[in-house]
Amino acid sequence: MSHVQSAPHHGDHLPPFETGRHLLSVQQFDRSRLHELFALADVVTPIAQRRGVCTVLDGAVLGSLFFEPSTRTRLSFESAFLRLGGEVTTTTGFTFSSMAKGESIADTSRVVSGYSDVLVVRHPDEGSVAEFAAHSVVPVINGGDGAGEHPSQALLDTYTLKRELEARGTGIDHATVAVVGDLKYGRTVHSLIKLLAVYEGLHFQVFSPPSLELPPEIAHYATLRGHRVTEYDTVVEAICGADVVYATRVQRERMTEEVAASGALQGNLIDRRVLMEADALDIIIMHPLPRDSRADAFDLSNDVDDLPGLSIFTQTDNGLVVRMAIFLTALGCSPDTVRATTKQRPWDATLRWE
Ligand code: NCD
Repeated sequence: MSHVQSAPHHGDHLPPFETGRHLLSVQQFDRSRLHELFALADVVTPIAQRRGVCTVLDGAVLGSLFFEPSTRTRLSFESAFLRLGGEVTTTTGFTFSSMAKGESIADTSRVVSGYSDVLVVRHPDEGSVAEFAAHSVVPVINGGDGAGEHPSQALLDTYTLKRELEARGTGIDHATVAVVGDLKYGRTVHSLIKLLAVYEGLHFQVFSPPSLELPPEIAHYATLRGHRVTEYDTVVEAICGADVVYATRVQRERMTEEVAASGALQGNLIDRRVLMEADALDIIIMHPLPRDSRADAFDLSNDVDDLPGLSIFTQTDNGLVVRMAIFLTALGCSPDTVRATTKQRPWDATLRWE
């Protein structure tokens, strides 16, 4: 029944992301495919902004399976599907799924994919979403697999960065990107560095506390493609001269107690003082969120929130249109079918964008 191909476990062997295909890794994108997805995100922007009501996915059902905590990823995937006129079924956590009764990923996936036209899956184990894909009869979108990948986040991050740099009269090619924080367990940076590698001549300036360093294979992936990766001992040095700083939360849920208790993880990772020292008060500031706002969480402080480059909520807003574009691609809807199924909204709304 299915035209979906079973998925191998390594990004290197995955086919390009197109209609009827799973989205498991950013390695399924080259530059032109990436920009095609971004063009589709631009087409659906008026729909996300509630200027038009679209029914292109009328009758389609999303199966949303989140076995790890999530707010924005799950809700933005679900909102994206709803705003395209589809319907959503959802299950969160292991407790309320039959996995709590010992059901395998293979069985769960085959069963749930029989109820859905596309699945979004988040799971704490690296490689587990690929296993879901291998047993699904519909396309599976990776919503994050442990410390592995988070492709939709990298897509929305890159979309945001491209637009922010273009607004400043430049672009991603030859940019200097500071990547700081927990680079070992933070899957969003793994996907982001790999995806940005489709551009040219980037310089990644990285900083992480001891034992949370970027996995060598990710740095190698970038250098193999002609980019530079430089590690710094302090966050200030990593930010100096960069066009953007991408910060990540310490992924305490994935690390040993010794690392979590280490003295290196105190205070803030980035605050106003750090940016002043780096002479970077106007830098583009990105973060996948959530921001850990507890004391000594070693994250991005909210004392930077009034700075002009703060882009963290632009990222979350862009998550909606990029995820709409992902569904449209997976389910084979062209920009023309989107336009043909969009009408002016018949109800009134107070719009943030107008
Ligand atoms: C990230 C994740 O789940 O990997 N969150 C997200 O999806 N925006 C980052 C995190 O949890 O720190």
